[in-house]
Amino acid sequence: MQVRIITLSENTVGAFGVLAEWGLSILVEAGSLKVLMDTGLSISVPHNAPRLGVDLATVDKIVLSHGHADHTGGLRDVLTKTGKVEVIAHPDMWAAKYMRFGEVDVYIGIPFSREELEALGASFTLSREPVWITDDIVTTGEIPMITQYEQIDPNLYVKVDEEFVPDPLLDDRALIIKTDVGLVVILGCGHRGIINTLHHARELTGVELVHTVIGGTHLVSASEERVRLTAAALREFGIQRLGVSHCTGMPAAMMLAQEFGDAFFFNNAGTRITVP
Ligand SMILES: [Fe+2]
Ligand SMILES: [Fe+2]
Repeated sequence: MQVRIITLSENTVGAFGVLAEWGLSILVEAGSLKVLMDTGLSISVPHNAPRLGVDLATVDKIVLSHGHADHTGGLRDVLTKTGKVEVIAHPDMWAAKYMRFGEVDVYIGIPFSREELEALGASFTLSREPVWITDDIVTTGEIPMITQYEQIDPNLYVKVDEEFVPDPLLDDRALIIKTDVGLVVILGCGHRGIINTLHHARELTGVELVHTVIGGTHLVSASEERVRLTAAALREFGIQRLGVSHCTGMPAAMMLAQEFGDAFFFNNAGTRITVP
């Protein structure tokens, strides 16, 4: 099965007339099925889609990688284009999520109520487990954290009974597609670790080889040591294409570019790839 991937929203752009916005949204076309992973922060996806030849009315499913607004904030506007659609996510997507900037805690959770989105046609499938969309396409459920060097960003919190507690980001999930040449893994922010995610993808599918990885890696605040260990571990998955986005950060992107050479690219709004 051939898979076509178009990035509809990202912090930067690589196509004429397309808007950049902090966040991420990636459309996956596998056979006749179209799955939209995340919806960007606000207006970028509905703006960019027609300019990239994408009709949002043809989207079959939406997957939300986690509850942060830079992945869910475009959902209301996207729903006005898709109409009735299944939205697959984790129940913690509704948690009151915050980021600490110095002394200030800023709300960064989903900016809509469930009722508001359902009234626009969203039909939520909320699961802690993997959800198989077809025999070849699966979203991870909760991603086990098994590596020593991958930790969740300590500035991310949830507000529970007026207390700020560290966010375990159990809602962090990836989209995995089985192809003839190996797995394609689409990351949202990769909050629970890119290597943890790839191990989980292998386990879920029984496929050893990971052909393509694209999306956010959340290496933006990672130590040089973590990036070095991540790069070395990525090598072991046989990756042929690594397209980092969004929360990767320039130092980590540069290290990965050096490590992966021609296999590396920056996956920004307007990037199109086909596998195989
Ligand atoms: Fe993000
Ligand atoms: Fe995030």
